[in-house]
Amino acid sequence: MVKAVIAGASGGIGQPLSLLMKLCPLVDELALYDVVNTPGVAADLSHISSTAKITGYLPKDDGGKAAMKDADIIIIPAGIPRKPGMTRDDLFKINAGIVKGLIEIAADVAPKAFILVISNPVNSTVPIAAEVLKAKGVFNAQKLFGVTTLDIVRAETFVAEIAGKKTGSELTVPVIGGHSGETIVPLFSQISPSGVTVPDDKYDELVNRVQFGGDEVVKAKDGAGSATLSMAYAGYRFAEKVLKAAKGEKGLVEPSFVYLPGVPGGKEIAEKTGCDFFSVPIELGPNGAEKATNVLGNITAKEQKLLEACTTGLKDNITKGVTFAHNPPQK
Ligand code: 2OP
Repeated sequence: MVKAVIAGASGGIGQPLSLLMKLCPLVDELALYDVVNTPGVAADLSHISSTAKITGYLPKDDGGKAAMKDADIIIIPAGIPRKPGMTRDDLFKINAGIVKGLIEIAADVAPKAFILVISNPVNSTVPIAAEVLKAKGVFNAQKLFGVTTLDIVRAETFVAEIAGKKTGSELTVPVIGGHSGETIVPLFSQISPSGVTVPDDKYDELVNRVQFGGDEVVKAKDGAGSATLSMAYAGYRFAEKVLKAAKGEKGLVEPSFVYLPGVPGGKEIAEKTGCDFFSVPIELGPNGAEKATNVLGNITAKEQKLLEACTTGLKDNITKGVTFAHNPPQK
């Protein structure tokens, strides 16, 4: 029996993500939680004839606890999205508290769950989650993931466009670092299959498009929010891999923003980058993050420069999250 929870299920990402999870044959029970509208979203999805049994909860009557109780996987897209001109960091003030509250509930009622954080700024919300779990004595770095899959999805799509490939999903393009602007580092030198390359005259433009692809959507939505459908797809793709790996499927690798010192192979990457939280390709298995892959050994000079810009910003984002978790503003 696999119980999955979407915390923030009524929102722009939450609804399509709930739909995808409802369709997932690996899920037996799907609990939706949000501050509004979850009974309606759950009722709507409950008419779909797939296996997952669906329930919806609101905060009243300890709905968060009921939703998350004994969950195997909790996916968190809760929070507010960006408007034009905002960075992901501008969301910190509101989303930091939301994520902290949700993780506190998860720690109490589902301490063994895989936790996938989508809420931005991921570079700070994942460190917040880790600190909350540590304070509650239930932190397992192998089970806490910041979802950066949309950066990989965008890189695959944009590279396929310029390489004349029919579909990006045939490509593997590692994207490492964080999930915001310059902290996003695509490694075009490590694309597979190996024949696919990014021409020199397109390199800077393509790096910029992967780093700031989210802004394209924010701008096009013109005040109505940020990426929701592609983010739901990305969140689902990562969640599906986590669930398949938990069931024993082998060879599942996807970059994710994790606490490196707590993941096998991660310590040396943390030492090299100076960042304890960092996204690298993660080999998934029954315990979650089984191995962090060090892809820094053979990066190019250009990628090294991107990495330097990344770690500078990322360190601040991480510190901001850790500091918030220890000294939350008084209400
Ligand atoms: C993105 O557009 C929403 O953070 C998400 O990358």
